[in-house]
Amino acid sequence: MSQKVTISLIKADVGSLCGHHVVHPRQIEMARKKLEEAKKNGLIIDYYVFNCGDDLELLMTHTKGEGSPDIHGLAWSTFKEVTEKVSKPLKLYAAGQDLLSDTFSGNVKGMGPGVAEMEIRERPSEPIIVFAADKTEPGAWNYPLYKIFASPDNTAGLVIDPSMHEGFIFRVMDVIEGKVVDLACPEELYSLIALLGTTGRYVVERILRKVDKEIAAVATTTRLSLIAGKYVGKDDPALIVRAQHGFPAVGEILAPFAYPHLVAGWMRGSHYGPLMPVSLKHAKCTFFDGPPRVVALGFQLANGELIGLNGSDPADLFDDPAFDVARTIAMQLADYMRRMGEFMPARLGPEELEYTTLPKILEKLKDRFRHV
Ligand code: F6R
Ligand code: MG
Ligand code: MG
Repeated sequence: MSQKVTISLIKADVGSLCGHHVVHPRQIEMARKKLEEAKKNGLIIDYYVFNCGDDLELLMTHTKGEGSPDIHGLAWSTFKEVTEKVSKPLKLYAAGQDLLSDTFSGNVKGMGPGVAEMEIRERPSEPIIVFAADKTEPGAWNYPLYKIFASPDNTAGLVIDPSMHEGFIFRVMDVIEGKVVDLACPEELYSLIALLGTTGRYVVERILRKVDKEIAAVATTTRLSLIAGKYVGKDDPALIVRAQHGFPAVGEILAPFAYPHLVAGWMRGSHYGPLMPVSLKHAKCTFFDGPPRVVALGFQLANGELIGLNGSDPADLFDDPAFDVARTIAMQLADYMRRMGEFMPARLGPEELEYTTLPKILEKLKDRFRHV
């Protein structure tokens, strides 16, 4: 039996160039240097550093399991060093933004960075897709994950492939209460949708294949505002999905993104906008700080090594004319939504804006209200 390997994706916004636009190449370079050292020292097997907009993403493979203080410590010290040695000297914008604590306590969960980790036994061939999004929140994955793992209209394998026919278990987190619930599909599909439709509160933490409890997907679930008690940027999410041979095919995993669904985030984390699938080259937000963007990176694992097209450079899966129509629709939707200005539902509802600066504006008007 093959050795267990853990895939850890740990990400943070530690400052960016030209406002909240894009990670600076020197930040990437510094992070690579740190992870290359860790690879040479044998702490990690392999790594790939990339960015989606202003978020620095550290993808690592190792044998230390989920929640390892060594791996989390490596990510934390990398983010710290990038902040101190690059973001601050270059006066990049919002340097160290997501590092909400000064002291590392063994696990970065609850300290600001987003974490998605899965420990697996590598199959004879192990294709994975790593998604990362900017200017949105973990609830942005609810709709595509429902489509990929529970909708027979999207995933032919749920109908046709005997190894997937029993369905999948969704572990859904209530981010307000900090609780999880497991829902098995297809039998609890309607309950699943009842929760996942409330994207700001219920998010998918992981998905397991029902027959053997094999992990199929894992997502980041951080809500920064709930940690910090105030608005400190959106919790731009990441997601790891295993593909093929008993899991959805790569094409079934990518298909839902051809429809640019509306997600919360965009300008000031306060608006609904379409999630636009883009290549790594276009993973940088512009128009009204958006529209929110998502990249999809394809790898093969080989004994923990991240095999890409050129070393560990992945297949850039949305770098494809097949997603041109989605991008055009996304821009049409973005324009449509912007014409509504600051009127709901273009702007988020008051409960979602609780942690932004809007309550301060409303506070000023409080005493001017007269009884009628
Ligand atoms: C959204 C985001 C940006 C900022 C906006 C204002 O996640 O990061 O849209 O909210 O650019 O930023 P500040 O308040 O830093 O000027
Ligand atoms: Mg930022
Ligand atoms: Mg961001």
